[in-house]
Amino acid sequence: MKNSVPDSIRKEIGKLVREINEHNYRYYVLDSPVISDEEYDRLFRKLKRLEEDYGFVLAGSPTQRVGAAPLDKFEKVVHKQPMLSLDNAFSFDELRDFDTRLKRYLKSDNNIIYTVEPKYDGLAVELNYEKGILKKASTRGDGITGEDITLNVKTIKSIPLSIEGSGPVPDEIDIRGEIYMNIRDFEKLNSEREKDGEPPFANPRNAAAGSVRQLDSSITASRNLHMSCYGAGFIAGITFNNHMEFMDWLRKHRFPVPKIIKLAENAEEVIKIIEELGEKRSSLPFEIDGAVVKVNDFKLQEKLGVKTREPRWAIAYKFPAHQGTTRIRDIVASVGRTGTITPVAILEPVKIGGVTVSRSTLHNWDEIERKDIRIGDTVVVERAGDVIPHVTMVVRERRTGKEKKFPIPDKCTACGSRVIREEGEVALRCIGLDCPAQVQEKIKHFASRAAMDIEGLGEKNVELLYSHGLIKTFTDIYRLKKEDLTGLPRFADKSAENLIKAIERSKKTTLSKFIYALGIRHVGEFVSRVIAKHFYSLDDLYNIKMDKLTEIDQLGEKISAAISGFFNDEKNIRTLETLRKSGISITNPDFERTSKDKRPFEGLTFVITGTLPKPRNEVESFIEINGGHAASSVSKKTDYVVAGVNPGSKIENARKLGVKVISYDELLRLSKGKTDMLF
Ligand code: IVH
Repeated sequence: MKNSVPDSIRKEIGKLVREINEHNYRYYVLDSPVISDEEYDRLFRKLKRLEEDYGFVLAGSPTQRVGAAPLDKFEKVVHKQPMLSLDNAFSFDELRDFDTRLKRYLKSDNNIIYTVEPKYDGLAVELNYEKGILKKASTRGDGITGEDITLNVKTIKSIPLSIEGSGPVPDEIDIRGEIYMNIRDFEKLNSEREKDGEPPFANPRNAAAGSVRQLDSSITASRNLHMSCYGAGFIAGITFNNHMEFMDWLRKHRFPVPKIIKLAENAEEVIKIIEELGEKRSSLPFEIDGAVVKVNDFKLQEKLGVKTREPRWAIAYKFPAHQGTTRIRDIVASVGRTGTITPVAILEPVKIGGVTVSRSTLHNWDEIERKDIRIGDTVVVERAGDVIPHVTMVVRERRTGKEKKFPIPDKCTACGSRVIREEGEVALRCIGLDCPAQVQEKIKHFASRAAMDIEGLGEKNVELLYSHGLIKTFTDIYRLKKEDLTGLPRFADKSAENLIKAIERSKKTTLSKFIYALGIRHVGEFVSRVIAKHFYSLDDLYNIKMDKLTEIDQLGEKISAAISGFFNDEKNIRTLETLRKSGISITNPDFERTSKDKRPFEGLTFVITGTLPKPRNEVESFIEINGGHAASSVSKKTDYVVAGVNPGSKIENARKLGVKVISYDELLRLSKGKTDMLF
């Protein structure tokens, strides 16, 4: 088709694409259009007609922004480099400390040059450009894996579909930034939603996130979204010396970047720039929740490196929070997954920074006492960015004398067990092993999306099944039968069947999700991924010693102690074995071999037959992780047939073709390079 397109038409199409993209850029990035909407539409229609007539569409064509069919689900995208988050500073002194800390780390008194830019309050995304063409866009996700939102991102007009402008185009570049919604668009959207009887979004950030995570990209297209780029991940074919140079490159290549990015020669200058930004904050059309301070020089950034999940070379200064005044209706004690008892204030609902707040953590009883918070008090409530709202002070002038103190519980409010206060900790903890609140929280966590992902086993159903004695620990989930469910309130035949199916589906999982599901203290999604990268299977973690963990960069003493404590407990190991016996099979796609010689199955093809000690998909994944290929039928190309109990006809075929037959144990030995023991 392409060849039959006359040169003149190609040229015309190319010219129109450039022209329209230029107008897009002027309108959506620079905010200064030079043609009318009608003129723009005319050019757009002309391009579309030519493309259709000649079947010739350029990769960067503006017509490619909309029009794809809705998706069933989002595909996963692994970021080539993890998307980190930022440490926070809540005062200028904390910024000064940051500067001192970096100088100490670098063992130098020289002033460090920083950049200061607004911290947009939206959602982080990564744009992947190959040879200048936008190939993939993904959400941050857990920092390692995100979701493929390419079709949606293409609808955002300020994001270039191809890199244009002068100078070299990198072979590949991952550009990162924040997608956000302007406050006015957020308000407009909410009032439309309310009119249509749809629930409003809580704030512009949620509205932006909700708009980007749409399976139907035409919905995203209808929400006026913007992006502000602030960094890069993987880059090939171009180098930069510092952040400012990179941001200039972005601007020159028509990426939307913050209008305000300033260089500061020292910490005091950083503070001055942030003060100025703070004054502008309320007049900006979008929400910013702070300023991001970065070491400008990339060599210095590299020297400083990263901590578990934040770079050492950057910090987010958070603006003082939004505040509101309301009354405490009641105080309740909430018991968490690890037994921590937290006092929570039930508030008369109050709107703070566009969000309705009706609960607020009171953190612990020390805090209640220190601030002398009582039921019935009028209080000032604060909310900053995504931080949970909290009570800052009591308005004593409003006291009537009827306010009531909330005593420190001496028993767990959920199970009546004794509560303790661990040395050096302010938190109260319930020691009841079978505390229903703790157990239910653990089960909810286990079943949650980022863990075992059991659809339909959310908060309400866990409480229901627990109260009917059907699940007492998470191992009971896998004993549930359809008959147990039908007859329970909310469960019809179909919904019971669906839950059983979802439980069945959840049995195939990955090591990182499984570790996360266990709810080990200090082990969230990120740390679970780190563990899965370093240990191939659960067996490698049983009875693990502390030093094996602390030698991993991202794992500190506290986290390592929690992990090794968990896997050295016999009762826990028994629980894990029970789970495995109920059919859970764990593969580990995150596992990273450190060098090629550690891929012992490189170039080898295996075929499995019969029943092996581990589920088939686990063994196949093991073969692949070791560099091999798992095929389904025996041929001349097969190197080994791995035979278990009751092997099928594949054994015969192997013999006929002279292919070696090995056992599962021999496969394990082969992976360790001990071939001499085999033949
Ligand atoms: S830099 C390694 N710059 O804030 C540093 N982040 O709390 C990565 N954000 O996940 C982030 N504006 O989504 C950076 N100018 C800016 C930002 C910014 C907003 C978000 C970003 C990040 C989060 C961290």
